[in-house]
Amino acid sequence: MTDRTDAIVADQYEAYPYPARDPKDEAKRLVVGSPSHLAEIDHWVFGARRDPARPLNALIAGGGTGDACVMLAAQLARAGRPGQVTWLDRSAAAAAIARRRLEARGLTNVTFVQGSLLDLPSLGLGPFDYIDCCGVLHHLPDPAAGLSALVSVLAPGGGLGLMVYAPHGRTGVYMAQDALRRLAPPDRPLPERVETARRFLRALHPEHWLARNARLNDHIAGGDAGIVDLLLHARDRAYTVPDLLALLDGAGLATAALIEPARYDPATWLADPRLRARAAGLPWAEQAALAEAASGTMAVHIVYVVRAGAGWAAPDPADETRIPVLRELDGAALAAQAGAGGRLSFDLDGVSLPVALPPLGAAILRGIDGRSPLGAVLDGIGAPAERVRRAWAALYAGLNAMNRLLLAAPPGG
Ligand SMILES: C[S@@+](CC[C@H](N)C(=O)[O-])C[C@H]1O[C@@H](n2cnc3c(N)ncnc32)[C@H](O)[C@@H]1O
Repeated sequence: MTDRTDAIVADQYEAYPYPARDPKDEAKRLVVGSPSHLAEIDHWVFGARRDPARPLNALIAGGGTGDACVMLAAQLARAGRPGQVTWLDRSAAAAAIARRRLEARGLTNVTFVQGSLLDLPSLGLGPFDYIDCCGVLHHLPDPAAGLSALVSVLAPGGGLGLMVYAPHGRTGVYMAQDALRRLAPPDRPLPERVETARRFLRALHPEHWLARNARLNDHIAGGDAGIVDLLLHARDRAYTVPDLLALLDGAGLATAALIEPARYDPATWLADPRLRARAAGLPWAEQAALAEAASGTMAVHIVYVVRAGAGWAAPDPADETRIPVLRELDGAALAAQAGAGGRLSFDLDGVSLPVALPPLGAAILRGIDGRSPLGAVLDGIGAPAERVRRAWAALYAGLNAMNRLLLAAPPGG
C-alpha cells in the first residue's frame, strides 16, 4: 500500500538523501553503530553459534546513504569473512552516495537494488540471514505491512536489526514540526521550507522543548538533510515499547535484545530500592515499558528480533569455546580507564552509567583480543580458576548489558 504522502516521502529522500555523507570522509573514519554491527549480529541474532565461515547474506532495507551497508561490508571484509550485503532503497540519490563511499573503501561485497521494500515478496531477492531496517518502518504508510514484507525474505534461523523512533527522547520534535507546518506549509518547495526551518531554529525560544532537548542533534549537525528528516518530514511516528512489541508480535517476531539491554532495565533508572524490587517482579515486557517511561530519555528503540518460536537462545557466557569480543573497545585501554577505583562509565542517552569492575576484571579485559576463546583468556590470567570464573561472570553481566562485551562463534561454529 502506498499513498500520496508516501510519494512525498520518496521525493524528500531524492532531494535530501539521508544521512548527509561525504564519501571523502571514508578515508578518515568508519561510521559504526547499532543495529548491524557485525559483533552484534554474531551475538544477538545468531547467539554466538553460527560458523563465521558460513557466508552471511544480509539485506539493508532502506539503506539510505549507506551507513549500515558500509559498516557491515567493511567489517566482513576486514575479518576476511564471506558474505554479501544488499542495499535496497527507493532513492537514486542515496544510492549514488552509498556507492561512492564503498568505492572509496574498495569494497566489492555489496549489491545495489533500487526499489521499495514493500515489493520484497516479488523482487526475487533473498532469502537473507540478516536484515537491517534502521529508521525506515516509522516513515511507511503501513509499518506492519513493511515489516511483514521483510519477514517474507528472512531465511530460517535468521534475524533482523530494527530501529524505530521513540517518543520521550523526541520531546520537542512534534511541536516544532507542527509550528513549521504552519510557517512553511508542505505545499511550498522543500528548499524554501528548509530556509524557514533554519530561521525558526535560529530564533528558537530557549524554553522550547526542542532547544532544551540535548539528545537531538540532526537539526544542528545534520545539514539540510538532518533538518528535513527531523522537522519537515512528511510522515514519522514514534513507538513506545508496548507499541513496538505489538508491531513485532503482529509480524510473528520475538525480541532477542533491546539495545542496550541496560537501558531497558528499570533498575538503571530507579534508585529507590523498594521501587526497584517492585519493578523486578514485573514481566519482562512491562519492565522494558517501565524503563522507557522511568528514563524519559529514549529517542529511538534498537531491537534485534528473530522468528517467534524459532528457539533463539542467548549466548552462553559459561561456554569457554566461545570468543569474547569487546565491541569497539580496547581491553587494555578500558582496564586502564577503570583505574584504581575499579569503575567504568558508559554513556547511555546522555546519561553516564557506572559499571563496577570486579577484582581480576582488568586482567580479563587485557586478555580479550577478539580472537582467543574464553577458556584461553581465563586460563591466561594465572589466578585460581574459580576466582577467575566468578570475575568473568560479573564482568560479562555488567558489560554485556551495555552491549560492549559480546560473544562470537569460533571457526567451525
Ligand atoms: C531516515 S532514512 C534511513 C537511512 C538508513 N537506514 C540509515 O539509518 O542511515 C530512511 C530511508 O528509507 C528509505 N525508504 C523509505 N520508504 C522506503 C520504501 N518503501 N522502500 C525502500 N526504501 C524506503 C528512504 O529513501 C530513506 O533512504
